[in-house]
Amino acid sequence: MTMTSKSNIKEFFQDQTIFLTGGSGFLGKVLIEKLLRECYNLTKIYVMMRPKKGKNAKERFDGFFDQPCFDLIKSKGINFTEKVFLINGNCEEPLLGLSETDIDVLKKEVPMLNLIRLSKKLLITFEPPKTFWRWPNKCQN
Ligand SMILES: NC(=O)c1ccc[n+]([C@@H]2O[C@H](COP(=O)([O-])OP(=O)(O)OC[C@H]3O[C@@H](n4cnc5c(N)ncnc54)[C@H](OP(=O)(O)O)[C@@H]3O)[C@@H](O)[C@H]2O)c1
Repeated sequence: MTMTSKSNIKEFFQDQTIFLTGGSGFLGKVLIEKLLRECYNLTKIYVMMRPKKGKNAKERFDGFFDQPCFDLIKSKGINFTEKVFLINGNCEEPLLGLSETDIDVLKKEVPMLNLIRLSKKLLITFEPPKTFWRWPNKCQN
């Protein structure tokens, strides 16, 4: 991309739904903040979280936006609650520990290109016609 060309990232994510693993990590939270700030025309971000340090996934998710990196989007009045949704999961479990309901939602709403993997070694592959998700039974992190 040249200095004068226009970024098409905002256009790419317009009306798109994303499934993000590793969203609670260093890069994940930066990415979520950036997407909410610059690509607010996206439809949804599903963030997969697991229980950790005595907190279940929902408790972690509920406190997620209290982190200082989200202060700027809060000051701009960006409403993250209508864009970012929790998916309970753990890469170490069969089928990522996802419920059948969540798998159905993700299959229906998230096109294959919109999987963003920030947890290590999570392998998800796709079968033709590439709209169908084929989940790994197990993956290492
Ligand atoms: N940071 C960098 O500068 C950098 C540079 C180049 C490449 N990378 C790569 O980018 C990726 C993300 O880096 P990061 O710095 O953001 O790492 P990080 O802060 O350690 O975050 C890792 C993320 O993966 C999640 N995760 C790990 N095991 C999981 C499991 N079993 N189930 C569900 N989620 C799991 C973690 O969730 P929990 O919060 O539940 O642990 C966390 O959200 C890594 O693959 C790293 O090697 C990072």
